[in-house]
Amino acid sequence: MAYAAFRSIGAYAPKKVLTNEELSTMVDTTDEWITKRTGIKERHIADENETTSDMGVEAAKIALERSGIAKDDIDMVICATISPDYFCMPSTATTIAKKLGLEGVTSFDISAACTGFVYILSIAKAFIESGMKKNVLIVGAERLSAITDYTDRGTCILFGDGAGSAVISATQNKDEAIIDVHTGADGTYADLLMSPNGGTGSPHDALDGEAKACFMQMKGNETFKVAVRTLTKDVKDILESNDIKSEDIKHFVPHQANYRIIKAVGDALKLTKEQVVVTVQKYGNTSGASIPMAINDIYEDGSLKAGELLLLDAFGGGLTWGSALVPFSPLLR
Ligand code: ACO
Repeated sequence: MAYAAFRSIGAYAPKKVLTNEELSTMVDTTDEWITKRTGIKERHIADENETTSDMGVEAAKIALERSGIAKDDIDMVICATISPDYFCMPSTATTIAKKLGLEGVTSFDISAACTGFVYILSIAKAFIESGMKKNVLIVGAERLSAITDYTDRGTCILFGDGAGSAVISATQNKDEAIIDVHTGADGTYADLLMSPNGGTGSPHDALDGEAKACFMQMKGNETFKVAVRTLTKDVKDILESNDIKSEDIKHFVPHQANYRIIKAVGDALKLTKEQVVVTVQKYGNTSGASIPMAINDIYEDGSLKAGELLLLDAFGGGLTWGSALVPFSPLLR
């Protein structure tokens, strides 16, 4: 049987930085409020002409280069995004594949909001373990600034743009393999976080040429409580079902939505500060890109080493959630 190994990581953040101070000239907020309630200090914002696929391509190039796997051996591309280049078609994944010169490669998007990266990891793992694919390029890419309402202080302070990518490939060595991925969803809570207009679920006249048609809306406080409850249960479940103790985790990489959520889950698992990866202060919430961007940060600062165990954990609109136990298994050392 083939197993799936997490070979490499890459990420991209656009050059332009939007600080809390700048946001406080746009809406009624302050650096102090944003820092205290979320931990966010700044976020990166794409250029007007920079698309989600452009950012995904930059992250993917780095992941490919670090993987040691030839570009022509990639046999599937999956992109997790809620801010695709085009809402219906083509998918952002096919555009990324085209820009990378990956001809004829199976490519598709999935929509699972902030849990997107954990979802595409689970799909890559399943395709590889079934023997259908060998080398899967996964990309979480978001231009959330395009679907953010910059007159709504409850949401616009949270979101940023960026992309992260990884190469997942087949191995016969079980020690290198992704141990487990859990995913779940509950549409009962759909109204906590949604872009209510722009699809077939919204009345046609609700659109009416409105620029705000696809903007995100969120019941932040209720979402916060469900997030802490769901994430804590989810990570406890995946650790217990794989008989792994929290002290065996080298790096806990949660979705970066709010420092208070990250801390609450880390405390519930009795994780030390050194185990918990926090990047929310510099990128804000980049939804499907947040986990790979955070993994890339610990790779680039030298703290992520071959063989170390990552625990990933995410929660997002849908509602969706997921967690994963992933040894970092690079081919190039
Ligand atoms: N600046 C100043 N005051 C503000 C701001 C702001 N930017 N935003 C809200 N407030 C005010 C509110 O109006 C409210 O005022 P009131 O008491 O006079 O009514 C007060 O601050 C408290 O508001 P809450 O919404 O209760 O604040 P909370 O502490 O919950 O923080 C936040 C809000 C940051 C949004 C938090 O609830 C949160 O992070 N929620 C979870 C987000 C999340 O995890 N989403 C899922 C992933 S995202 C995805 O899937 C795309």
